[in-house]
Amino acid sequence: MGIGATAGVAAAGGFALSANASGTSKSSASSDALVFDPDAYTKLTKTVTDTDGNDHSVVYHFWKAITYVASPVDATYQSLIVSSPVEIDGTAVDASNAPILLANSVGGYMPASVATATEVGGGGSAMGGGAPSGAPTGSAAPSASASTSNANGNTNATGGATSSNQLLALAAGYVVIEPGARGRTLKNSDGEYYGTAPAAIVDLKAAVRYIRSNKGRIPGNVERIVSAGTSAGGALSSLLGASGDSKIYDKYLKELGAADASDAIFATGAWCPITDLEHADGAYEFNWGTNALSTGKQVDQTVSKELQSQFAEYQAALKLRGLNGFGTLTARNYDEYLVEQYLEPSATKYLAALSDSDRSTYLAANTFITWSGGKATFTWADFLTHVGARKKDAPSFDAFDLSAGENNEFGADTTLARHFTAYGAKNDTTGLTTKRVASDIAEKLDLMNPMYHFAKKNPGRSKHWWIRLGTKDSDTSLTVSANIAAAASALGDDVNHLYYWDEGHGSNIDPADFITWIAKVTGHTKRAAAAK
Ligand code: DHB
Repeated sequence: MGIGATAGVAAAGGFALSANASGTSKSSASSDALVFDPDAYTKLTKTVTDTDGNDHSVVYHFWKAITYVASPVDATYQSLIVSSPVEIDGTAVDASNAPILLANSVGGYMPASVATATEVGGGGSAMGGGAPSGAPTGSAAPSASASTSNANGNTNATGGATSSNQLLALAAGYVVIEPGARGRTLKNSDGEYYGTAPAAIVDLKAAVRYIRSNKGRIPGNVERIVSAGTSAGGALSSLLGASGDSKIYDKYLKELGAADASDAIFATGAWCPITDLEHADGAYEFNWGTNALSTGKQVDQTVSKELQSQFAEYQAALKLRGLNGFGTLTARNYDEYLVEQYLEPSATKYLAALSDSDRSTYLAANTFITWSGGKATFTWADFLTHVGARKKDAPSFDAFDLSAGENNEFGADTTLARHFTAYGAKNDTTGLTTKRVASDIAEKLDLMNPMYHFAKKNPGRSKHWWIRLGTKDSDTSLTVSANIAAAASALGDDVNHLYYWDEGHGSNIDPADFITWIAKVTGHTKRAAAAK
């Protein structure tokens, strides 16, 4: 989707934002600091090109970075921007009761900042541009495999997926709020990592609390917050959705001086969520265990098999039923489930949309697919061959040498990276004296895992789920998002989960459908502005 340039800028409202702290100074908790100023906006115009290629001129009110907690650890990250449309294609709109798209731009569990953003879509992770420099790199960088994929994947993935969501949402008349959040590489002058787990989710919750506590002042319907994010941002989005109003975050939110309000959100959008981290190594081997790395090398098959058996145990313990009456999902039938429920329908949709000649060409190049009666069928083994090289070595997330980005995500105090699974700790190759995970890890894992909240049937969770994942995305197992879908569905939630055929990590190929879905689940109809 092409996005047009910003047009005019007209000043409005106007004095300095009272809550717009800067730097890293601590301020004492003050409720005044968390009052949104409805008048402190700038009026901007954006040309938004829709997915049919048509341009729309959107005039909107833009609030630059506002710190969303009273006692920020680092306001560079703990701030949000607000964009609210007032005129679309020459027609005045009233967004005061419109859905709020809460679009995070976190990638790689890295810091994301909107501190210097000057327009809608201005967020960015430390790797995605838009963030101020200063995030440590060097030794803080994750493993070669994770870091390369993160750095590359995030920039495109997160920017592409969320910015199209944001612009299309604005052009649909929704309010767009983009929060920054702390991330794993942030280190203070004492050498302490202050953005590792659970910082990012606590920050997003604080942002939601800020929005909800400003009901009537901030534009949009605070009861209709729809979260969106991609990859690590998708993980955080699904966690935000699953964990609404959970008490386990209270002490962290209190420390930040978060607003006193609910942090429940109405609906959740998650693209390729990299989550359920403590089970992701096993799930990865279940899925991609026999696929070679891009070097052509197989991963250690003993490690792979051990991890696969951990997955079998975990999946059995979940006791999740597949969608559409599939029955209980296990390591024995999950391949069949993915093929029937997601992969064949995905290929079918892709092929059906092609011209006859393009379809013939594709099928000739991909003879593993049987195309009959307008339906694609194939085996799991052939699908795996079709995807080809796996992106990550084994274990993919809790690396024995602590080199994965996720090892850093579970760092704490002055420790850059830690193990977060018993298996990773036991097989540590960095010379640690203890071969067990640290005592605080169990709690940190719960704080970071949407599956924990589904298991608890958290009543404050979002009841609407939009989940998307490319079939060629081997940044994590294809079972991760399918388990989220199955868990939400089992609790009676409304789940819309599709896999994008042949798409890789971070893809978002149906953003217009997401925007339509938001209108449907929130019951929103565009309102013309009343004459004032
Ligand atoms: C992301 C990608 C990964 O492979 C990962 O392990 C964590 C995050 C990302 O793109 O955000």
